[in-house]
Amino acid sequence: MTKPTGRPAGRRVALVSGASRGIGAACARHLFETGWTLSLGMRDPVRPDWADSERVRVFPYDATEAGSEQTWVDGTIEAFKRIDAVIASAGIMIPKSVIDIDDTDLDRMFEINVKAPRRLVRASWASLAASRAGRVIILASLSGKRVKSVTAGSYSISKFAAVALSHGIRQAGWDLGIRATAVCPGFVATDMARGITDRADALMTDPDDLARIIGLLLDLPNHASVAEFSINCQLEESY
Ligand SMILES: NC(=O)c1ccc[n+]([C@@H]2O[C@H](COP(=O)([O-])OP(=O)(O)OC[C@H]3O[C@@H](n4cnc5c(N)ncnc54)[C@H](OP(=O)(O)O)[C@@H]3O)[C@@H](O)[C@H]2O)c1
Repeated sequence: MTKPTGRPAGRRVALVSGASRGIGAACARHLFETGWTLSLGMRDPVRPDWADSERVRVFPYDATEAGSEQTWVDGTIEAFKRIDAVIASAGIMIPKSVIDIDDTDLDRMFEINVKAPRRLVRASWASLAASRAGRVIILASLSGKRVKSVTAGSYSISKFAAVALSHGIRQAGWDLGIRATAVCPGFVATDMARGITDRADALMTDPDDLARIIGLLLDLPNHASVAEFSINCQLEESY
């Protein structure tokens, strides 16, 4: 007998932020290839070359503009009638110590890495609940689990908060069938990591591998909830 998956019937719809590049782009492509319908939020909305117009819509989204998530969500509901998953991948890293950073830079990281994903999930909440198996992936970081270096300090503050955000969503959504996971990678071979390390791409986690993990997390049934998922390209004491 086939095991029930707990998935809602019909083609599932995922919102992906940060889909223009890096991890978000890899996720979007993987989800498209595995049958999802996608709503992509981008500062410069351009449909990826692999996407078809029936299953992929692209909307303007700037994480620093409160309200732009609501327009994106409303457009998605109008186009596809449902939202089953939110993958919040848009993020920035300002490599400054907790002593050197000023409030403007710290606020910017908080705005994009913490406050904007909260707003995006909140705007999608009714649709995620209607799915009865809504899924939220917050791209946090291993920097949300430990402070690895001097210049990672300020980014870590925002990513510890992003991990807490994911746990808060998990608590708020449990009875509604919403499951949230804080995905916590170390270095992933994208523009962001290339800007802060000179290690070769081959020595970092491949964004396509992360996309496969996220695809699995989205597919797990309500009673196989993963609160945090850590993945590393290098050996550390605990991760
Ligand atoms: N790469 C790593 O080593 C690593 C490790 C752990 C966690 N992470 C986290 O994973 C997530 C994705 O990182 P990545 O490696 O894919 O970074 P990336 O290659 O630098 O891409 C960042 C993405 O975020 C988008 N973005 C930035 N600011 C935005 C804004 N104001 N509004 C809307 N979108 C915005 C960018 O859009 P534009 O193209 O418009 O700039 C881009 O799509 C981030 O949250 C990051 O902190 C990354």
